[in-house]
Amino acid sequence: MSTATRPVKIRGTGSFTPSKVLTNEDLSKIVDTSDEWIYTRTGIKERRIASEEETTSTMGAEAAKKAIAAAGLTVDDIDMIIVGTMSPDMPFPSTACLVQTQLGARKAVCMDLQAACSGFLYIMEAATGFLCTGRYRNVLVIGSEKLSSILDWQDRTTCVLFGDGAGAAVLSLAEEGESGGIIDFSLGADGSNAELLYMPGGGCAIPASESSIQQRHHFLKMRGREVYKHAVRVMSQAAIEIVEQNGLRADQLSCVIPHQANMRIIEALSTRLSIPIERFYLNLDKYGNTSAASIPIALDEAVRAGKVKQGDKILLVAFGAGLTWGAALVEW
Ligand code: UT7
Repeated sequence: MSTATRPVKIRGTGSFTPSKVLTNEDLSKIVDTSDEWIYTRTGIKERRIASEEETTSTMGAEAAKKAIAAAGLTVDDIDMIIVGTMSPDMPFPSTACLVQTQLGARKAVCMDLQAACSGFLYIMEAATGFLCTGRYRNVLVIGSEKLSSILDWQDRTTCVLFGDGAGAAVLSLAEEGESGGIIDFSLGADGSNAELLYMPGGGCAIPASESSIQQRHHFLKMRGREVYKHAVRVMSQAAIEIVEQNGLRADQLSCVIPHQANMRIIEALSTRLSIPIERFYLNLDKYGNTSAASIPIALDEAVRAGKVKQGDKILLVAFGAGLTWGAALVEW
């Protein structure tokens, strides 16, 4: 086995969001809520909702096509696909296998990795490890979610927060003499707080039954206020640690791409990191929380808007169910 020491580069990014928009106003007709409550508590104005035909794999495949094109590659160049999702098309086979056949990427090894909203950072680090073995050349990483399929549309404390979409990137080793690349990762998890954010039904602990359906076990459940406190604490810790451990100062970061869950969490992060909010890329108002898709959609939009340029140092930082969290430093 050969082990490579060159850094891993993000070669191209892509994203896809369904065309159907669900506004806060629309939601106020479904549950007892208001645009004012949702916007002031979260910063969300609207979110996208997938159609019946659009699934986690189809949205992931659309985002992937754009990422592969942006990388200047074809599907035949992709030798691994990793999908991060907590709303797979089905328990098995993996959503990555379904994406593979939709793309026609026959040479790719396929797997899913589940780390909820931190999923994209986890799959980026996994892809980096695989690339460093020297056995894979181009790994396609996809964060994709159809959360509308696991939301309880009678629970106003959760259904207003989430949306559907997908983001993707192609990762490969830097060429000889090429500058930039992923500098470092810092991932973490705390399974003792699993029940703060979870979906109890559908696995082997509570398989589908009449009673599990009556008890609404097949929907996402969250203790929002507690999740909020953990989110602020661990995201700022992970971000501060990774910046310091790499001998950088926060003011050297050109752009921060945070997991888009709540504007107040992002503002707290901005204060704790002493990085002005203007340097954070934000699209929470348009999409809500898209879990594993949130960072790659934001990254793709930031790149295409010219907010991330060659040589820029950027920070990606996320938090989610598990509990899981993570940060990544990248030189573009
Ligand atoms: O992806 C990572 C995981 N998720 C997160 O990062 C989410 C983290 N948590 C949050 O973003 C916030 O905790 C929420 C947005 C979920 C909630 O905001 P909050 O300021 O913590 O509100 P709360 O849960 O303490 O609720 C305050 C009040 C309650 O009423 P009472 O008990 O004060 O009378 C809720 O019943 O707001 C009520 N409420 C609502 N009212 C109108 C809760 N949801 C709604 C709603 N519309 N949709």
